[in-house]
Amino acid sequence: MTDSARYAWLKDELASLDHAYYVLDDPKLPDIEYDKLYRELISLEQAHPDWVTPDSPSQRVSGNASDLFTEVKHAVPMLSLNNALEDSEAEAFDRRCREGLELDQVEYAAELKFDGLAISLRYEKGLLTQAATRGDGYSGEDVTANIRTIKAIPLRLKGAIHPDTIEIRGEVFMSHRDFDSLNQQAIAKGDKTFANPRNAAAGSLRQLDPKITAQRTLSFYAYGVGQCEPAVFIPSTHSKLLDQYLEWGLPVCEHRDVLKGFEGLSSFYTKIGDLRDQLPYDIDGVVYKVNSREQQEDLGFVSRAPRFAVAHKFPAQEALTTVLGIDVQVGRTGAITPVARLSPVVVGGVTVTNATLHNEDEVRRKDIHVGDTVVVRRAGDVIPEVVSAIKEKRPDSALAFVMPTRCPVCESHIEKLEDEAIARCSGGLFCPAQRKQALLHFAQRRAMDIDGLGEKIVDQLVDLQIVRTPADLYQLGLMALANLERMGEKSAENLLQAIHQSRKNTLARFIFALGIRHVGESTAKDLAKHFGGIHQLMDANEEDLLQVNDVGPVVAKSLLGFLQEAHNREVIEQLLAAGLELEVEQSTINPALVGKTFVLTGTLPTMSRDQAKLLLENAGAKVAGSVSAKTSYVVAGDEAGSKLEKAQQLGVAVIDEAAMMQLLNS
Ligand code: IVH
Repeated sequence: MTDSARYAWLKDELASLDHAYYVLDDPKLPDIEYDKLYRELISLEQAHPDWVTPDSPSQRVSGNASDLFTEVKHAVPMLSLNNALEDSEAEAFDRRCREGLELDQVEYAAELKFDGLAISLRYEKGLLTQAATRGDGYSGEDVTANIRTIKAIPLRLKGAIHPDTIEIRGEVFMSHRDFDSLNQQAIAKGDKTFANPRNAAAGSLRQLDPKITAQRTLSFYAYGVGQCEPAVFIPSTHSKLLDQYLEWGLPVCEHRDVLKGFEGLSSFYTKIGDLRDQLPYDIDGVVYKVNSREQQEDLGFVSRAPRFAVAHKFPAQEALTTVLGIDVQVGRTGAITPVARLSPVVVGGVTVTNATLHNEDEVRRKDIHVGDTVVVRRAGDVIPEVVSAIKEKRPDSALAFVMPTRCPVCESHIEKLEDEAIARCSGGLFCPAQRKQALLHFAQRRAMDIDGLGEKIVDQLVDLQIVRTPADLYQLGLMALANLERMGEKSAENLLQAIHQSRKNTLARFIFALGIRHVGESTAKDLAKHFGGIHQLMDANEEDLLQVNDVGPVVAKSLLGFLQEAHNREVIEQLLAAGLELEVEQSTINPALVGKTFVLTGTLPTMSRDQAKLLLENAGAKVAGSVSAKTSYVVAGDEAGSKLEKAQQLGVAVIDEAAMMQLLNS
């Protein structure tokens, strides 16, 4: 194959791979193979710049940012649809069509009403030459450079036969997933977020720099036609037009149907209404169009809308209401979520009285006050959220939100780490909101290892208020357990036995079992080793905690927050009173060495410096890399160099390995 034939093949192959990926949702090659072909195309284009054509996949992002969009006159105006808000209005639409056409029953094409922006794509001899927004219906803005970045839109129509000119109309929109990730990125960068996918799609399309649009993921569905020369290319029905679009490689939504009479329309409306929450993008209704082109022409237009089509709307997913108050809720993991209490409002057909504000930063960013008029949105089956406040309507009496300092459920301190968005209740094990999760954590194999205390049992124990804290577990009797569902006398006995056995445990497992944030198994072990007893840990201050191997400011803060709560201490005491025997695994801590700093230098006679370091650290000493006035001892082996000299200069004690071992064993 010659290079130019290979180049032509690559262009076709990449376009059809894009089609498979972006339109059919059916990738044909792994990304890495695609990238190989793409790179080959680019290198051929670099070698032969004169070969590059506008439909090359490399030409999706091209051209520079401009300072304005030029105006485009639509050859055929882009009209709007009349709305049917009630079923009776949809029924009236069908009656007018029947009467106008003098038919007993009319055939309709039904499809979704996408909530995005109408776009007209102009293809000349199969090649995308221009894309324009709807504007006022008669002229819009030239957004060709931006539209070219949408991979679902073919730069050249598939197949061999195309009209000389055709304006393909459809909707550009953003899926929920792409919207969420765009907003996540905006939050991470400290930029403004978009209120809804429609605004995000509009904002992305109106970017003057196509490179920015290229970074946003936009989608497109075709649903109409404008100018077409020669007109014979337009099939006889709307549904066949969409079939033709599919053959040309354009995306057409699969949720469409051909139906007869109002009964047919009505069942489509119900079916899509049920599907709405599961769709990966927003729709605000369905659209009915008389299917036959000829009948469409017969019916014609009234002012700016066709008589042959109507939008049958769903209840709006956004509504205005006022914020009566802002409370906080505690989640299963202690996460504190501010929730707006709203004056009841119907959104998407459901009455909403609460909406999430996600976290404290979001409340600040969206600047939501108690008393504000806000936009509430309920999309899909997600929790309703407050989108934004209407600042102009803010009353003088409006109050800013103040994050409480104590958990509304258990009154423990609420803590928020600097680099985390979520504030949490520090109550851990003892916060009723977190009780079930905390008990399961306490009982797990790697913690207190209470075999048989699973989710089903914990649910019942907590719901029946038999168990509130882990200490209550040790007060359980056979009767209480045997009366639970799915619990025979035998398994109750086994569970009781398992609880009893868990009394004998290690201090490290017990510390881990408390479920203190940031205290995992290995930190728990370090703490147990370092302090040697639970009371020593409970009495530690920040400075003491920071002495422990691997305990930094974050862990120390979390530990202090937990241990300073009176009721946490109370439950620990209750647990101890229940007869817990917590053994400290072979503590190697040598109190004489805690707080001492050693520096190792030279070759030691019987062990490596790493081994010596481990021994010293396990004993509670610190090992530093350089000698200073604060160094307690320099352990010098053979061929010790500058560190030994420095120690001598500073008058630091210099010892050998044998003396170090004596210290360790003292
Ligand atoms: S047809 C002459 N079909 O709704 C009819 N429009 O109010 C022209 N829309 O600006 C439009 N989904 O942005 C049609 N399946 C659909 C649609 C749809 C959404 C939008 C479009 C248009 C508005 C009409």
